[in-house]
Amino acid sequence: MRTAIYPGTFDPVTKGHLDILTRGKELFDGVTIAIAADNQKTPLFSLGERMELLLEATKDMPNVDVRVFEGLTVEFARKCGAVAILRGLRALSDFEYEFQLALMNKKIAPDIETVFLMTQSEFSFISSSAIKWASSLHAGVSDFVTPHVEKALMAKFSNLRSDVRDEDS
Ligand code: COA
Repeated sequence: MRTAIYPGTFDPVTKGHLDILTRGKELFDGVTIAIAADNQKTPLFSLGERMELLLEATKDMPNVDVRVFEGLTVEFARKCGAVAILRGLRALSDFEYEFQLALMNKKIAPDIETVFLMTQSEFSFISSSAIKWASSLHAGVSDFVTPHVEKALMAKFSNLRSDVRDEDS
C-alpha cells in the first residue's frame, strides 16, 4: 500500500481542497486527510466540526480517511506509514511558502516526498479565509464549498451574530 497524507487546517474544507484530494487519491492506494490541531491560525470551526465537515465531504471516497494530528507533519506521515505529503498549489504566491515547507520537511524526513498538484483554475483564487469573509457578509459561496459546508458557515455566522446581540443588550 502506497499512501499519502493531505495535511491542512481545513477551516472549512473547500471545493479547492476536494479537487486536490479527488485527483491525489488516484495516485495513491489511500489518502489520509490530516487536520492540523496546532498551527498559528485561529480557526472558526472547532477540530470536531472540521472533522465532521470533512467526513461528510468524503463519505463516498472509500480510500480516504480523516484524522487529527499534533506536532510535525512528517512524523504524522511516518505514523500513518505514508510515503508522501500531498499539497495543492494555487498561484505563484503559494510557491515560496510551500517550497520552504517542503524543504524543511525533506530535511527532517528525507524518505517522505511532497507531491504538489496544481489547483484547478476555478479554485485558484479562493481560500478558506476569503470564503469565511464572504459568507459572514451574506454572500453565497456555493461555487466554492459543498452545500453542507455552506449551511455550516451560515449557521456559524448566525450564531455569532446572535451572541453579539446578546452581549450588546
Ligand atoms: N484550493 C483552494 N484553496 C486552497 C487549496 C486549494 N487547493 N489548498 C489550500 N487552500 C487554502 C486554504 O483554504 C487555506 O486558506 P486560509 O489560509 O485562508 O485558511 C490556505 O490555502 C492554506 O491552507 P492549508 O493548505 O490548510 O495549509 P496551512 O498553511 O493552513 O497548514 C500545514 C499547513 C498544516 C501543513 C503546516 O502548517 C504544517 O505542516 N504544520 C505542522 C508543523 C510542521 O510540520 N511544520 C513544518 C516543519 S517545521
